[in-house]
Amino acid sequence: MNNFLTNDSALQKVLIPQNRLQERVSELGQEISQAFEAKDLVIVAILKGSFVFAADLLRAMKIQCSIDFMGISSYAGQPGSGVVRITKDLDQGIAGRSVLLVEDIIDTGLTANYLLHNLWQRKPASIDICALLDKSARRLIDLPIRYRGFEIPDVFVVGYGMDYQQRYRHLPHISVLRLNGSPDVTPDSIVSDPAGSTSES
Ligand code: IMP
Repeated sequence: MNNFLTNDSALQKVLIPQNRLQERVSELGQEISQAFEAKDLVIVAILKGSFVFAADLLRAMKIQCSIDFMGISSYAGQPGSGVVRITKDLDQGIAGRSVLLVEDIIDTGLTANYLLHNLWQRKPASIDICALLDKSARRLIDLPIRYRGFEIPDVFVVGYGMDYQQRYRHLPHISVLRLNGSPDVTPDSIVSDPAGSTSES
């Protein structure tokens, strides 16, 4: 995996290696399958960042479910405001159904909060949030995240579907991107996950 790093000095370190991602996604798939066994479950994956996670999560599911996608982007000039533009809406109705909102990363929480409000207007039976990464140190809005892959420190990450200016989505692991002025990540700011294990590069 190191060849990804040596080729690009902007990639500071691997925060979550590929095998740890696969293990955790598989655990989440089991957990979600048990909880929604008798339900009409629709996974709503938010594009673009969650497409790799959603594809792996779907394949870790042990129950019938459907998947749909919503595309969003920040309004120009207002990134981080939580005001998003829907670039692609759902193809299916969700009224009366159990919705699992699948996000790549929850940072301030403003985007997920906007999406929750938008989806509740369509009268689903329930909405639960599943986020691969939780950057809770930056949270501005308290959100009920039912399924969380990993808690991560306040660093900018790329890979496994997540980008910086549309780059790095292809990386099979999650890496820290060195942005101007960002501090180095030290070994004690390694990610943690609810199962209690830690992962190192
Ligand atoms: P929030 O509205 O602040 O919670 O931002 C959520 C969205 O910001 C995510 O769905 C990502 O698209 C993007 N984002 C936040 N932090 C990162 C990061 O570290 N890497 C890549 N995208 C990020």
